[in-house]
Amino acid sequence: MPSLEEELFPSTPGKFKIDRGHTVNRQFHRCFASTSTMFLWALFLVALTASYLSFQSFIDSGSLYFSASWGGIQWEKQVRNSAQIHRSGGMSVLVTGAAGFVGTHVSLALKKRGDGVVGIDNFNNYYDPSLKKARKTISSNHGIFVIEGDINDAKLLARLFDTVAFTHVMHLAAQAGVRYAMENPQSYVQSNIAGLVTLLETCKSANPQPSIVWASSSSVYGLNEKVPFSESDRTDQPASLYAATKKAGEELTHTYNHIYGLSITGLRFFTVYGPWGRPDMAYFSFTRNILQGKPITVYRGKNHVDLARDFTYIDDIVKGCLGSLDTSGKSTGSGGKKRGPAPYRIFNLGNTSPVTVPKLVNILEKHLKMKAKKNIVDMPGNGDVPFTHANISSAQKQFGYKPTTDLQTGLKKFVR
Ligand SMILES: *[C@@H]1O[C@H](CO)[C@@H](O)[C@H](O)[C@H]1NC(C)=O
Repeated sequence: MPSLEEELFPSTPGKFKIDRGHTVNRQFHRCFASTSTMFLWALFLVALTASYLSFQSFIDSGSLYFSASWGGIQWEKQVRNSAQIHRSGGMSVLVTGAAGFVGTHVSLALKKRGDGVVGIDNFNNYYDPSLKKARKTISSNHGIFVIEGDINDAKLLARLFDTVAFTHVMHLAAQAGVRYAMENPQSYVQSNIAGLVTLLETCKSANPQPSIVWASSSSVYGLNEKVPFSESDRTDQPASLYAATKKAGEELTHTYNHIYGLSITGLRFFTVYGPWGRPDMAYFSFTRNILQGKPITVYRGKNHVDLARDFTYIDDIVKGCLGSLDTSGKSTGSGGKKRGPAPYRIFNLGNTSPVTVPKLVNILEKHLKMKAKKNIVDMPGNGDVPFTHANISSAQKQFGYKPTTDLQTGLKKFVR
């Protein structure tokens, strides 16, 4: 989406202004001799200035791209219908990243139990957008309106909160992937930092303020070697730019909690997998390659130690998200002013039983009834950490979080 904007306005507006000014000045001097032509030129100059100014404000408002796909009575009706609550004590939730893997599953679960859900997603092409469109279709079939829009679009967000008094925001929109951060670092800053701040600004000004639950990441533990990873462990040694932007998110949300009284819950997800998952993740690409008879690359850590991940099944993550929303507690601010302290929480959502990558391949081979062609190579220093292992006792205590799907069972469902 940012690249589309750059295509539309490749040069700075300032440059455009100077060029136009020079041309007009020259022509103005040449025609100064005759008073009647001077009058015509003055008229022309006024018209030119007026049209230039209106064009300028058109660009400044940034509305050329953004407003194309939203707004209007019909649109507002769709938003309101989708946000309608169908159970007593229910909530209306704005879900960002609603066409994503976790976003789709959480939206469907909320809708199923009678909560109102409105989704927003920018459908970017980090991975095949047709998968996101397909997820959107499923959501639409369940009465969930997923808006094609960007969380950096402050006007769209403000309009959404004008239309519906959302009680909660489930913020899942993000630029994901650890390795891609070396290719395109700016996209992480754009989504995970700038987009987050735009969303928080909207939420702090909303009346009433919503409670916010958002996706941080287990990657914030970085080079932490103490296992299992507990929420109080140090998180100041990120190993990737992705992790650094998620850590920044934890600091930024804390600031908004502190200054404006926003209720914040950050969830550190541990390697979420399952049906409708992300094609850029290892379990997904391994499955595809094994089925196509193509070789897979299995990374190995220092001293030939196998990499291990605390793989967490999507249904368990969904339960964790809903548990967090249900226990989030209210924001205390109004009109952009804090009225009292609000909850600030961080939870690990993992599975607490790490599995090595060769074991993962093993399970896939069994379910697919095919042998993998493995290329075992040493892990490059590109941001992947050797292992993750969640201590989930805090989420367990707060809202009874208890993962029930092991990797064997979960992958079986995925393969099917
Ligand atoms: C897990 O975290 C809790 C705090 O939530 C802590 O009391 C406990 O000691 C941790 N367990 C381990 C094994 O580190």
